[in-house]
Amino acid sequence: MSKFNFCIIAHIDHGKSTLADRLIDRAGKIKHGQMKEQMLDSMDLERERGITIKLAPINLQYKNHDLNLIDTPGHVDFQYEVGRSLAACEGAILLVDATSGVQAQTLSVLDAAKKQGLTIIGAVNKIDSDRADVPSAVAEIAKILEQDESDILKLSAKTGEGVDNLLDTIIERIPPATENSNEEARVLVFDSVYDSYRGVVAFVRVVSGTINNKNSLYALASHTKTDISEVGKFLPQREAVSELSAGDIGYLVTQLKDIRKVRVGDTLATNLEAQALPGYNPAIPMVFASFFPADRTETANLRESLEKLSMNDAALTFQGVAHPALGSGFRCGFLGVLHLDIVRERLIREFSIEPIVTPPTVEYKIDLNSGETLRISNAIDFPDQSSIKATFEPMSEVEIIAPSQYMGAVFELVDKHRGEFIKTEYLNSERSINFFQIPLAELILTFHDELKSVTSGFGSMSYKITEFAEEPLVRLDIMLAGDIVTPLSQIVPDKKAESLGRQLTSKLKEKLPMQNFALPIQAAISGKVVARETLSAMRKDVTAKLYGGDVTRKRKLLEKQKKGKKRMAESGSVHVPPSVYMDILKRD
Ligand code: GTP
Repeated sequence: MSKFNFCIIAHIDHGKSTLADRLIDRAGKIKHGQMKEQMLDSMDLERERGITIKLAPINLQYKNHDLNLIDTPGHVDFQYEVGRSLAACEGAILLVDATSGVQAQTLSVLDAAKKQGLTIIGAVNKIDSDRADVPSAVAEIAKILEQDESDILKLSAKTGEGVDNLLDTIIERIPPATENSNEEARVLVFDSVYDSYRGVVAFVRVVSGTINNKNSLYALASHTKTDISEVGKFLPQREAVSELSAGDIGYLVTQLKDIRKVRVGDTLATNLEAQALPGYNPAIPMVFASFFPADRTETANLRESLEKLSMNDAALTFQGVAHPALGSGFRCGFLGVLHLDIVRERLIREFSIEPIVTPPTVEYKIDLNSGETLRISNAIDFPDQSSIKATFEPMSEVEIIAPSQYMGAVFELVDKHRGEFIKTEYLNSERSINFFQIPLAELILTFHDELKSVTSGFGSMSYKITEFAEEPLVRLDIMLAGDIVTPLSQIVPDKKAESLGRQLTSKLKEKLPMQNFALPIQAAISGKVVARETLSAMRKDVTAKLYGGDVTRKRKLLEKQKKGKKRMAESGSVHVPPSVYMDILKRD
């Protein structure tokens, strides 16, 4: 009996979860009737959105061999997790939808898999579909894998056709895990979850040695020691076993309460001096936004909820911020915009808190004349312009695959977002992979939606963050009735600041509810007003109740109204409805 550990690399919707279901049908240990559609996607949110967020491994038995499938998230925000699951495997199935062909994100994961030396099996899915173009998909996969077309498998995860052949090919081509069970125990953590009853449960690949529930292990990156209270496998539900040995994929129930002590990518070992396995890379938040409770009395509740969420989501970071208009809230760090969206939705569903979310930003680097370097993501922290020596923004390398007839529109889009073309490679005569350099700040708001829209849904993209590039940046403020509304302040490139200012003021004029007084809406850069609109006052006819000709009374009432309006304008008490914040700063 040998152990084969593999994962599936596929773009969203190419059928990874459906294929996993079929593999469980054929080789899973799960009892008949326990099978739910898309067994691997466990969170409700994932089911609803049809995307895989969390990794959920499963153990399969086939022809007397032990097979472990590790599901990988297909979305760009979670590529960090994809990397971890690759490290736990010897092989990968590259699954491509025959109705749409190779997509950009697939390529970047494939690159990572090749770098890790994984054996890759190419497979075309959805061969049953009327819209399938099997020969083209086979040719594209053969090209990117540099394999013969005859090596590419054809299957339908829906009907099950070709799935046995896939299982046979896995045990034939993927090298079995080496079983050095006699060495000291070392395991790679490729995911961890917090279970409120049991503590932190680490999902692991045992690299050497054996582990049982009497062991104590050290997490090498966090220098934390923990007893292990249970070891087990994923069927896919967790089932305890007496021990896990080298080559196994399974879970360890630790005694820890803090998921940050057992971070993904860390090594657990019996000996603190043991050599850590390569590849520990803490999740670095790249996108930031502040969350405020809509009701100010809910701050403690919001904190508690974020704490609970971060127990199961080690990539989520947060710290308290105070805000003059919105009260106490939290500055949160995310892997990307989808990650932000998911955290927000989980707060609403699981904790009944609908937070006000400021528009996402990236982290900028600012060199000051004093020699100090700042890293800031929030416009509130932007230093006085005169103290700044140079400003830098994070860049990304973006790969876009699209049919050639849309490439003109793609170039226009990239240009609009301050991007630069690097090179083109052809997948075939109709589709190409295009490489661009684009500032990360331009990608995190609406870029992906815009790409989908200009390519009628056929374009796909992936990105990796590269380095900081110098770019003159300024702080753009919005003033309502003369007061800066700090949540609407942003850090923007100097060259776009004026036009953004104009866009924002006119959008605000459109979206803000009318006030009792004429409301000046201004945009300013370093205190200098660059755009202005006026939202006219809502005129309430205070004299309507008066009949006839009591002129003095009428005038008195109008005077009173005028004073009231002036007072309101002076106090700057303009209520910006929470929904307006997200809307306004989308920058479309
Ligand atoms: P993510 O979890 O978002 O990464 O998606 P996925 O790759 O797991 O895709 P999923 O299995 O959810 O399948 C996406 C859609 O394609 C679903 O509507 C499936 O029913 C459909 N689908 C999957 N495999 C096949 C197939 O072999 N043939 C046909 N016709 N449809 C399929």
